[in-house]
Amino acid sequence: MVPRGRMQCFNHEGARRVSQVPMDMSTPNEVLCHLEDIPDGGVLGVDPPDPAGEPLLLSRHGNSARCWLNICPHAGRRMDYAPGSFLVKDEKLTCAVHGAAFALREAGLCVAGPCRGQSLVAVPVRVRDGRVERA
Ligand code: FES
Repeated sequence: MVPRGRMQCFNHEGARRVSQVPMDMSTPNEVLCHLEDIPDGGVLGVDPPDPAGEPLLLSRHGNSARCWLNICPHAGRRMDYAPGSFLVKDEKLTCAVHGAAFALREAGLCVAGPCRGQSLVAVPVRVRDGRVERA
């Protein structure tokens, strides 16, 4: 799978590189992206082709990937400050709306901000042959 219309950007001071690709729904295993599309220790936003679908957020740690809905548990808003642009530093994602901080290595647990103690909604994925697929 080759991501279509891939966008990349750099966040402000100290944040990691992030990027966003449209979700490829052309295969039965729902390939979301290639593992290498996700910066190691960073995140990637994946939007469904259907505008009514739920946006996803993937993170990578070496050869493993995790996925959550890109929907903040505080107020149900997207967490990117622009499509595909996330605030990530020290493996914590900060929601661009009200500043909740989520630990990417701790199952998306909110560790600071207005929804402290809540977690992002996980989406099961697996890495197979370098691709990240829904599990
Ligand atoms: S919507 Fe994310 S902190 Fe309020």
